[in-house]
Amino acid sequence: MALVAVANVKGGQGKSTWSAILKSHLNGSGRLLDLDPQQGDAHTWAEAARVDSKLIWPETLFEDLEAAANDNLWWHVADCPPNEGEATRAALALAAIVFVPLIPGGAQDAQAWGRMSDLLDEAWKVNPDMEAVVLLNSVRPTALSRDFQDLLQSWHSPEDGRNFIGSVPMHVAIAETIAKGKAPTDPAVRKALKGFDKVVKIASSVTLAKTFISNRVQAKAGAANE
Ligand SMILES: Nc1ncnc2c1ncn2[C@@H]1O[C@H](COP(=O)(O)OP(=O)(O)O)[C@@H](O)[C@H]1O
Ligand SMILES: [Mg+2]
Repeated sequence: MALVAVANVKGGQGKSTWSAILKSHLNGSGRLLDLDPQQGDAHTWAEAARVDSKLIWPETLFEDLEAAANDNLWWHVADCPPNEGEATRAALALAAIVFVPLIPGGAQDAQAWGRMSDLLDEAWKVNPDMEAVVLLNSVRPTALSRDFQDLLQSWHSPEDGRNFIGSVPMHVAIAETIAKGKAPTDPAVRKALKGFDKVVKIASSVTLAKTFISNRVQAKAGAANE
């Protein structure tokens, strides 16, 4: 059912981790596209987890992303590199959902969020139906985490496609299952993934909305031909 891009302009925020989590839970046989091929973290996980994946090099970037975005059957997940280069921009231009994991660790993370939200604003100009889903990841109970929460709550505006869905704690089970190449269905991991059900809900509501819209368009086209 189209493309979920997992993006943040900064490294170490949980992009590859969440690409694996989303790929494990979004229905069925979509592919995991690793847009950070030199690092290859998502691809390495996918090989161990026996999940269909592909390293995406610049030569086939647009072709592969377009094929994924136009797939009517499955969700495909694109793990983006930690920058605002061409691969990230292309993924954002084509994605139905952009999932942004964000660690509320310090000033650099706040700065990264500033750049990321600018990048989202740019993407909406070419991809107005895109849903952005932000999750605070690897959260510890600090005053800074609370500041990030307040910041994102004021950004949150679902009717504009801006969704802040909550916080997931720093949890060793999350890091360990991914590192072992397992699918994160273990109850300990599920418990740690408090924001996760909302992610799936948003993914499926976007699917429903898209189905609804395309049915409407077809019905209108049918009426016009009669
Ligand atoms: N919620 C979490 N709890 C504990 N460790 C986490 C969590 N999210 C990510 N990590 C760890 O943080 C590190 C960076 O995550 P990664 O997904 O590789 O980030 P990115 O792809 O954005 O560079 C990894 O070692 C990963 O296991
Ligand atoms: Mg990564």
